[in-house]
Parts: sequence; structure tokens; C-alpha cells
Amino acid sequence: MAAWEDERGLIALRWRTGADWVDLVLADPLELLDDHAHCELGAAAAAQSFLARHPSINRVAEKLSATAIEELRHFRTVHALLHELGGTLSSRGPNAYVEGLQAAVRASRTAEGDPLVDRLLVAALIERRSLERFELLARRAGGRLGDLYRELAPSELGHAALFVHLCFEIRGEALAVPRLLELQELEARVAREQTRGARIHSGFAERAA
Ligand SMILES: [Fe+2]
Ligand SMILES: [Fe+2]
Repeated sequence: MAAWEDERGLIALRWRTGADWVDLVLADPLELLDDHAHCELGAAAAAQSFLARHPSINRVAEKLSATAIEELRHFRTVHALLHELGGTLSSRGPNAYVEGLQAAVRASRTAEGDPLVDRLLVAALIERRSLERFELLARRAGGRLGDLYRELAPSELGHAALFVHLCFEIRGEALAVPRLLELQELEARVAREQTRGARIHSGFAERAA
């Protein structure tokens, strides 16, 4: 097993979310679904924007158009359940975890750093953290919510693997892995520092770190 991998061949998380996170988010399922619906919209938009910026990279058009469609389909599924349970989609600002991660990654990039590697690895890390959260919810949530996360988790696993392997294909493992090892540590810090709340990427801090 390589240093960046876990036992499933996915990116190893350097900080694991505790089961008390599930209790925290299940206290407000409508808020969680609202946030989650926005995560899916953001993922669809990010896949399209990456494709528009790098259309000629091998396999990118095919893979990322499929990802964008899949994420938008997830949005419809999550939104339908939100609506069914009596909630409405709110308008939300940017995702604090995603913004925090992007900012921390930019700040840590040296002059020799490769923005394309960083973009792909950040996408892979976000999918990987989301997968961890979906799997916790799949195990612990009951009823329709539990069904939702059991349905969505396999596709999140596919996305986490897709972005890391795209990065390895495009730039080579020798260049990508050392940066991935750095970003794994950084992601763990950003995730841990998120504020409490019923959100897919929430943490345990009382207020913004
Ligand atoms: Fe998704
Ligand atoms: Fe995804």
C-alpha cells in the first residue's frame, strides 16, 4: 500500500470524523439536505469548469462531462427528498470547507508548484471527505435519509478515485504523490477547523478558526 492510500486504495484521510458528527448533523436533516444539494450543484459546476479549461487533456471531456451529469442527477435526488420532507432550497454562500481548502492549497504552493495538480487533488480530497461523511450517514441514519446516503456513497467513491487517477495519468505519480501527501495533511486541518452545524463538511469548532 502506497503512503497516500488507505486499505481500499483511496486517499487516506489524516483526520477521521467521529461518530458524534452524525448526531450533530442529524439534529437538523433539512439543513443538512439543503447544504448537500448545494454541494452537488457545486460539484457539477466544478466538473464543467475543469472541462472547459482543459478540454484537450486525454479522457477529460468524456470523464468530466459524465461526472457533471451525475452530480446534477444527485442534486435532483437530494432536492426531491428535501422538498418531500418539507424543506426548501435556500440560497447559500460559498462552501466554507471548499473555500478554506482552496485558499490553504494556494497559499502552500511554491513557485515550482503545479496548479493543475492542485486542482485535481483538491477535487479528489473533497470527494474523499464527502465519501467519509456519506458512509457515516449511510451507517447511522434511518429511513429515507439512510437510503439516500447508501445510494450516493458508491458514486462518491468513484469520483474520489477518478480525480486522483486523472492527476496521476496527466502529470505522473512521481510528481503528484509528494504534493498529495502534503495536501492530505492540509485537508485534515481544514476539515477539523470547520465550524459546527448541519452541513456535509461541518466540523466541531465553535466559530471560524
Ligand atoms: Fe455527487
Ligand atoms: Fe461527487
